[in-house]
Amino acid sequence: MNIETAEVQEILDSRGMPTVEVTLGTRVHTITASVPSGKSTGSKEALEKRDADGRGVSDVCRLLREEIFPVLLSREFTDQRALDTFLIELDGTKNKARLGANGMLAVSIAFAKLSAKEAGVPLWQHIAESETFTPSYPRLYMNVMNGGAHADFRLPFQEYIVVVGGKPREAYDRAKEVFKTLGDVIRAAVGEVPMGDEGGYSPQFSMLERPFEILNELIHGEDEMFLAIDAAATEFSEQGNYKMLGTTYTRAELVDTYLALIEKFSLRSIEDPFAEDDTEGFSNLLSCSPKDLIVVGDDLTVTNSEVLKEMISMHAGNALIVKPNQIGTLTEVYDTVRLAHTAGWKTIVSHRSGETEDSFIADLAVGVGAYGLKAGAPSQRVRAVKYERLLAIEQERTS
Ligand code: PGA
Ligand code: ZN
Repeated sequence: MNIETAEVQEILDSRGMPTVEVTLGTRVHTITASVPSGKSTGSKEALEKRDADGRGVSDVCRLLREEIFPVLLSREFTDQRALDTFLIELDGTKNKARLGANGMLAVSIAFAKLSAKEAGVPLWQHIAESETFTPSYPRLYMNVMNGGAHADFRLPFQEYIVVVGGKPREAYDRAKEVFKTLGDVIRAAVGEVPMGDEGGYSPQFSMLERPFEILNELIHGEDEMFLAIDAAATEFSEQGNYKMLGTTYTRAELVDTYLALIEKFSLRSIEDPFAEDDTEGFSNLLSCSPKDLIVVGDDLTVTNSEVLKEMISMHAGNALIVKPNQIGTLTEVYDTVRLAHTAGWKTIVSHRSGETEDSFIADLAVGVGAYGLKAGAPSQRVRAVKYERLLAIEQERTS
């Protein structure tokens, strides 16, 4: 593939923070790719590089223009792995600290998109074929109520999620219906409430169980639907304990709290139930929970195959969140997903709380055959485009 044009520009994400958008072109095709940004980040994530003011990305843009683009335009890379290896070696650090994982990932995704275009196949198919994954439709993990760091801790857990299985169009319609009815129920109960970073409702309740009661009612009797949460527990951990709604929980008490919620409600998937360094909490929960509970690592695993290997050996979960910007290149994402699937762990491809209108994660989820796609509430355009891309993929696969 002969790349003839390479450009970068600064755009704003859904929180109004600057991020990078890369445009690559061959003689016939031009594509763009942009990268999101997290707020409740894991400490082992690759570095998202910002200017000295803590906001801007002008330094990342300069590095792309001065160091990466000249090579892209002059050297031919045979495949994604060759490109990503070049980026990793050029960066030369363990966590992408020199060039920045944000700039590197934008180039990595842009290269994948352009390769698919040049090959004349849909992006998800290019991912599946070049990395020998079996494509499939993910379950929708739609975050409908926002708390934690995404909503000033108006609710203790960060995300209250409705999971819907089945074919994308039908699943999306059902999820949207639940989201709409949830709005009516919340407005009737407590009036207008703010929306959180990921477009979900952020009511304030004094009882831990209240959001589950409301959501359980909405999905009661529905097949292929269950509830999930992202506790993002690092955010409410305090010196080995956990603090929610004014109460302090020990690790053991928090395990019991989750088990009680699972027993009482259709809660089947819990992400980051404990702080990222509390692996014992994760493995304790997994060993005493019902077999079908999905214990998901996010800050725990940070899409990093080295970290994941360790967590697999410690039985610290049975699923992980896959966020490309936690690691910085697609080849590393694919390697982590492969390792997970080989170990029998489920993968849930995810957006970040600060998003752009790039729908890449929908193709990624289908291409690697992920169990789930977590993309927030459709009240925000940056979230809806991911689900809409999934519907377009369904059309591509059936036509
Ligand atoms: P983040 O949150 O993008 O702010 O890290 C998403 C998550 O924790 O899953
Ligand atoms: Zn998370």
